[in-house]
Amino acid sequence: MTEILAFANQKGGVGKTTSAVNMAASLAYLGKKVLLVDMDPQGNATTGVGVNKRTLTRSVYELLTGQCAPADALYRTAFENLYLIPSTMALAGADLELAGVERRTFRLQDALHTLASYPFDFILVDCPPSLGLLNLNALTAATGVIIPMQCEYLALEGLSQLMYTVKQVQTKYNPTLLVRGVILTMYDGRMTLSVQVAEEIRRHFPGKTFRCTVPRNVRLSEAPSHGKPALYYDRYARGTLAYLEIAKELLDKTSN
Ligand SMILES: Nc1ncnc2c1ncn2[C@@H]1O[C@H](COP(=O)(O)OP(=O)(O)O)[C@@H](O)[C@H]1O
Ligand SMILES: [Mg+2]
Repeated sequence: MTEILAFANQKGGVGKTTSAVNMAASLAYLGKKVLLVDMDPQGNATTGVGVNKRTLTRSVYELLTGQCAPADALYRTAFENLYLIPSTMALAGADLELAGVERRTFRLQDALHTLASYPFDFILVDCPPSLGLLNLNALTAATGVIIPMQCEYLALEGLSQLMYTVKQVQTKYNPTLLVRGVILTMYDGRMTLSVQVAEEIRRHFPGKTFRCTVPRNVRLSEAPSHGKPALYYDRYARGTLAYLEIAKELLDKTSN
């Protein structure tokens, strides 16, 4: 069965995109067939795997609004086993355009179902920093949520809103949705605050938080400007190795 994982946290800048791109690359590197779906109008995940969003005529926007078939919005990236459904700025209008549309929270789920003949082991969805219709679509389509959390002051603030949204989606649209994992990002073991926040998050999500933490690592922030996941930019950077390790932890927890 394909695992569909939504990388969600309504806070911006916590490492959703960095985690989605690098987990996708790591799982693909480990031999899994992976589809990355960019659900953020910013399109950072799209850029991060080397696809130029300015030249695209078929993207997740056309897919959600029914203007193209899902298979036509699917691109092969330059990286083995890694595929992409990209995003463009047009996606910013989707919330309004879908307002009155039938099955508007199921648009992504319906689209991914029509891709069932493609043998993806994982579909990773990079969510925007909001809890609007795009997020609802991602959570409704997903089998699990991955929550990237920055190990800084107020990391847990706002988390109750996300958990409330997850509960609502479970009740209304997707009863089997799980919190699949929590990724501790921008962790600095030399800082007491980072260590304390990490402990607090682990207490809040016992058994869900990945053992391996992602360090603050400049290679992770440089890689996107080269259009590459960190794995293809600096294979042995600490950030690269952390995401590879977390991907292995995920596979250990999965039947895939
Ligand atoms: N572990 C890390 N070390 C250093 N920089 C990071 C790390 N994770 C993310 N960043 C940088 O922080 C910024 C926000 O990360 P991003 O993944 O875009 O967050 P989000 O998608 O949640 O808004 C980006 O500039 C990214 O390159
Ligand atoms: Mg992002």
